[in-house]
Amino acid sequence: MGTIQIENLNFKYDQMVDNLFDSLNLRIDESWKLGLIGRNGRGKTTLMNILLGKLPYSGQIVSNLNFYYYPQNITDKDRPAVEIVKELTDLEDYDLWKIEVELDKLQVKTDVLEQNFSTLSPGEQTKILLAILFIDDYGFQLIDEPTNHLDIVGRKIVADYLKSKKGFIVISHDKTFLNQVIDHVISINRQDIDVYKGNFDTWEREKNLRDQSELEEKNQLKKDINRLHETAVKRENWSRQTEKGKFKTGLQQVNLDKGFISHKSSKMMKKAKTIANRVDKEIDTKQSLLKNIEIEDPIKLNYVELKHPKHLITVDKLQLQHDEVVTPEISFKLPVNKVIALVGQNGVGKTTVFKQILGLKQPFKQTGELRIGSNVKISYLAQEDELTGMIRQLATQKHIDAEMIFSNLRKLGFERELFEQPVENMSQGQKRKVALAISLSEEANVYLWDEPLNFLDVITRQQIIDAIKKQHPTMLLIDHDQDLIDEVFDQKVVLQK
Ligand SMILES: Nc1ncnc2c1ncn2[C@@H]1O[C@H](COP(=O)(O)OP(=O)(O)OP(=O)(O)O)[C@@H](O)[C@H]1O
Ligand SMILES: [Mg+2]
Repeated sequence: MGTIQIENLNFKYDQMVDNLFDSLNLRIDESWKLGLIGRNGRGKTTLMNILLGKLPYSGQIVSNLNFYYYPQNITDKDRPAVEIVKELTDLEDYDLWKIEVELDKLQVKTDVLEQNFSTLSPGEQTKILLAILFIDDYGFQLIDEPTNHLDIVGRKIVADYLKSKKGFIVISHDKTFLNQVIDHVISINRQDIDVYKGNFDTWEREKNLRDQSELEEKNQLKKDINRLHETAVKRENWSRQTEKGKFKTGLQQVNLDKGFISHKSSKMMKKAKTIANRVDKEIDTKQSLLKNIEIEDPIKLNYVELKHPKHLITVDKLQLQHDEVVTPEISFKLPVNKVIALVGQNGVGKTTVFKQILGLKQPFKQTGELRIGSNVKISYLAQEDELTGMIRQLATQKHIDAEMIFSNLRKLGFERELFEQPVENMSQGQKRKVALAISLSEEANVYLWDEPLNFLDVITRQQIIDAIKKQHPTMLLIDHDQDLIDEVFDQKVVLQK
């Protein structure tokens, strides 16, 4: 087996000040099962696009393999899957058995190929697109986050499938999945890129050891960063209170006119923001001295506890039907400060139930009962959010203070430069973080979160788990991540076909 050699690679997107990749050198054996890991926006997808020759770069990439990428771009999903397969592979009818062999290993019945691609479950779609990647013996597969739309069973099948293959790179934030599949890790760190032999756990153990010795050396630096974080949080809380009109510090006894207070308040807000910016910059500088150690503040939901009614959402024998699709009958009552997880296989109808609760327009006919307490404010994090435009515009549309969204994004590891970028230019995880930061920032009594962990890096995943555990908000939750569900749920509602 040969190698793929990346020599002195430099790359940046037009609007970037610094290079995303700076004199990168990597040597990869073609037989390695590589996990490409790193926080959102570090350049994982970009690196794949560079290998595919889709982006201009300087330097050299030496390899005589054919690179293939998942997920492929599909122009029209509303046609039989077999047509899409033929278009993406150039296979003739007599060669279709090659795809059938792969589908069989992925436990997909071959007759789904006759079905319209758009009507297949997300799991089936993923598996067909993966099968396409593996019919070329001289192929090297670049697989970008295959697990996002897979349920637990689907993840295991895909993990076993990939494990039986040789030579590919897979990007994933799912530790369990990576541990089952990979034998090498490429890690895009804060300051450099490393290659390790081993799976995710081995890599993590080694990283913790390195971080530990780095921290012992630079303990004072870490203390300084923590102190700066605390100052930032205090300022933020103060500025939030002011914004809400609870500005009273020392002024409440004096009979001042409202105009004066709001003028004074806005001046102080401005000052607070300038200081917050300065503190942020100082944290950035100090953190850069800490090399590859990542320190993030805990996140917090803008949750308002509602004691009445006793149950915020009541669902009784609810069933939704449209054509052949029928969701299973479900019943539950959501009391305050409880987390109910809706669990079930891909395509069973969990999102459809969410949309019905939210009163979104759907073609489904409802039987059974659905009651939502009056004046209950729901914050919805959709499974797929097609957000576009600038964050400030999104904030205005949603009547949320943009600074609060920015502050949450900082905690989620966003660099300040990104605030002025349109969302469509961001990485998948960064887009997801914008949607998450909006949901965290808007005042709500109930959260409906549909697969919140999709596309998010491991640090943010932990931040979410910690926040739900700490605040214990009233929440309906859908996710296929076992760790998240196990750690936070009070009750599970199982949807079964
Ligand atoms: N088309 C683009 N134009 C400008 N900047 C971009 C573009 N695509 C990505 N970026 C920026 O380049 C950086 C790397 O993005 P990339 O999508 O490669 O990250 P990633 O590691 O795959 O992240 P994720 O885990 O979120 O998918 C990010 O800061 C992102 O905002
Ligand atoms: Mg990506």
